[in-house]
Amino acid sequence: MLRKGLPLEAALGTAARGLDKPEDRALAHAIAAEALRRLPDLDALIDRATKQRLPDDAKARFALRIALVQALRLGTPPHAAISTALPLVAGGPRRLVHGVFGTVLRSEWTLPEVPALPGPVAERWRKAWGEGIVAAAARQLAVPPPIDLTLRDKDLVRPIDGVSLMPGHLRVPAGTSVAGLPGYAEGQFWVQDISAATPARLLERGGGRVALDLCAAPGGKTMQLAAAGWRVTAVDISQSRLARLSENLARTGLAADLVAADVMTWRPPAPVDAILLDAPCSATGIYRRHPDVLHRVRPRAIAELAEMQRAMLLRAADWLKPGGALVYSVCSLEPEEGEAVADAFLQARPNFAREEARRILPGELEAEGGADSFYLARFRRART
Ligand SMILES: C[S@@+](CC[C@H](N)C(=O)[O-])C[C@H]1O[C@@H](n2cnc3c(N)ncnc32)[C@H](O)[C@@H]1O
Repeated sequence: MLRKGLPLEAALGTAARGLDKPEDRALAHAIAAEALRRLPDLDALIDRATKQRLPDDAKARFALRIALVQALRLGTPPHAAISTALPLVAGGPRRLVHGVFGTVLRSEWTLPEVPALPGPVAERWRKAWGEGIVAAAARQLAVPPPIDLTLRDKDLVRPIDGVSLMPGHLRVPAGTSVAGLPGYAEGQFWVQDISAATPARLLERGGGRVALDLCAAPGGKTMQLAAAGWRVTAVDISQSRLARLSENLARTGLAADLVAADVMTWRPPAPVDAILLDAPCSATGIYRRHPDVLHRVRPRAIAELAEMQRAMLLRAADWLKPGGALVYSVCSLEPEEGEAVADAFLQARPNFAREEARRILPGELEAEGGADSFYLARFRRART
């Protein structure tokens, strides 16, 4: 994953193909995700334990990260932790790996309570948001994120043990088996981080009016809009992600028209009352759940994504009826993909006004278990 720059889920899809049991795949995921959360600290221990300068992509370093994260963070007995890692260096530097692992454990070195963010990320976020936010982001990385549920009907009587942080929301502890909760099979709720649930809340109730949900799959926001009385057309380029949207609608009993299309070539048959564009982005705001973004996303990719987001927003704006609302959101911690896109949009479309904008940063709801980082804004098209 680190070598090829792939997202963790995609890399594991290939790497864990040989693992038949779901619990083995879950363990592989837990090891990889925790190693990615702790990479700079793991590397510091490795470098402290050997005089050899191991390159970042040396097999020995990969094997040691995997062994050490298991022993130091996941409670795996040391002999089991090292035996999963040694096959990775078969025919190679096994003695070195064994030696470094033994040194770290014998010396009783530990990982810090709060992980260090990778240098370039810390630098970027410090420049954008300041030291306090970098520190909050690091603290958030140490806490397994809780699971947020959006309730289909906010007045639902809930037999679920959780904390409600706003109407229609329920937070359950990290690791909860959601499919086992009462009401899941009946589609009474779906998993959606509290921040991800905010953009659709920027639109009022639909009352049978027409909304476009652009870049919609797997459909958290489509379901919110449908539940709020909008007649929704959900557009996404990915067939497989639309299939998940379809399953989600079937489970919750909500309705939407699904369209598999590229937003940059498709167009609706007629102007609509409201549009939600949850644009593809670097996803650096969801680094707690997808720590690969901390190592994978480069400034160049951020700039390219921002260009696409600007183009999508401009295109979508032309599909709106006069007086209609356009919500833009990204789960990115980069101002280039949020504030800057919104500013550029307003410059290019003076017939739109920004009615509301929110930046959700690390540290938000920290005492309650945190929240993903988002930028969201609602624009209104002038009536004439
Ligand atoms: C941030 S995710 C959307 C999450 C979704 N809105 C939700 O709430 O569940 C971005 C989505 O954009 C889709 N996408 C990327 N490029 C696209 C394009 N050019 N046209 C349509 N969809 C696109 C991806 O397939 C992905 O599902």
